[in-house]
Amino acid sequence: MADTLRLAVIIASTRAGRFGPTVADWFTAHARRRPGLTVEVLDLAEARLPAELTDLDDPLPRAVRDLAPRLAAADAFAVVTPEYNQSFPAPLKTCLDWFYEEWRAKPVAVVSYGRESGGALVAAQLRQVFAELHAVTVRDGVTLPRYWELFAADGSWPKPAAACNTAVATTLDQLTWWARALREARTARPYTY
Ligand SMILES: Cc1cc2nc3c(=O)[nH]c(=O)nc-3n(C[C@H](O)[C@H](O)[C@H](O)COP(=O)(O)O)c2cc1C
Repeated sequence: MADTLRLAVIIASTRAGRFGPTVADWFTAHARRRPGLTVEVLDLAEARLPAELTDLDDPLPRAVRDLAPRLAAADAFAVVTPEYNQSFPAPLKTCLDWFYEEWRAKPVAVVSYGRESGGALVAAQLRQVFAELHAVTVRDGVTLPRYWELFAADGSWPKPAAACNTAVATTLDQLTWWARALREARTARPYTY
């Protein structure tokens, strides 16, 4: 349906034994319950983007060409990311650096997890990087401090009353508002800056 918004959920951690997919499953389940929203999960462990960028005139590697249309089709992004040494994982930065127009004039929400800070530093850093890419990070996001206390070892999700469920709802409200507003704006007047 033309009115449907497309959300791409990006799993940023590629580590063996990673927890990222559990967080992404939980967030995605919330998003899929929203009418008018289709959700695609883009797992950077599967995308296998090369770590070495090519020169500007060089042909793009196959993995980059494969991911490009999936990013381009998205009206909004949610980045599910852990905190590694007070920042986000290198494969996420690689992904951000490979693409340009795919991010432009689109909204981004950050869903972070980690120890005591829950990845709050990551969210702050990603605001800076996405601004350079002409993407718009929404005000609210989801931080999951000491995530192992929220999720059971078997990957069971947080109890419905947990505060993080409210944070997901608020984040999705803002993300979908911006996604619709920016899609209408891009259609009315291409973003060329
Ligand atoms: C290399 C590395 C660095 C980490 N640094 C931090 C950190 O700075 N802050 C934090 O809260 N957690 C840190 N952690 C803990 C991670 O948040 C935790 O291991 C989480 O499960 C990683 O996500 P993943 O399992 O999806 O890879 C670090 C973990 C790794 C592997």
